[in-house]
Amino acid sequence: MQRLDKILSEAGIASRRELKQIIKKGRVTVNGIIAQAPEMKVDEEMDSIFVDGKPIARTGKVVLMLHKPAGVVSSTKDPHDKTVLDILPTPYRNMGLFPIGRLDKDTEGLLLLTNDGNLAHHLTAPRHHVAKIYYAKHTGVATQEDVEAFQAGLCLRDGTVCQPAQLEPLGEGESKITIQEGKYHQVRRMMASRGMTVLYLKRLQIGKITLGDLPVGQCRRMTSQELEQLE
Ligand code: URA
Repeated sequence: MQRLDKILSEAGIASRRELKQIIKKGRVTVNGIIAQAPEMKVDEEMDSIFVDGKPIARTGKVVLMLHKPAGVVSSTKDPHDKTVLDILPTPYRNMGLFPIGRLDKDTEGLLLLTNDGNLAHHLTAPRHHVAKIYYAKHTGVATQEDVEAFQAGLCLRDGTVCQPAQLEPLGEGESKITIQEGKYHQVRRMMASRGMTVLYLKRLQIGKITLGDLPVGQCRRMTSQELEQLE
């Protein structure tokens, strides 16, 4: 916890002396409530701090987990479609967040967003081998032969060779797939190369991070324990 005036001055709003007046005039809110005192203690990570109705710029690194719904694109801007930024609560829209990797427009599930370029690089660089686990509903039934083909490293229809991956059939038309790469439409193309069309796809896990009970369309800040697990 930090003093409110310290956080505001670090965010470049005004000097500590000027902030006294700004706060006194009721121009600062913390979690929607007008702040009364410069020495008020706030959580710089979690509290939502606004000056004149605008969120303050944060210097800290932010990592959010989002339960992405189908129908939104994993980018920060799009001329036609709603983006993952558009569905975040307002304070998170001006923090320079961007998605770490991508999920297709039709794919649901765990998507991380950050303003920390190093973390994004760490999680997406193929040499770091961060496992991503997906649940798929698909046509046909995955067989032992399919499992072995995934394990051996599939060759996609366009000749792209994939690293070994795990296919776990869960029953008729349902499978769990674990991959370490992030090629374009990778799971859909891997399944297609074995004659199965993916009808529904959801990412359940990235490394040790799972969606838990986060409802579809909702996001939350990652805890410091979760962040340690990403490193
Ligand atoms: N593989 C896909 O085909 N789509 C995704 O969104 C993620 C992985």
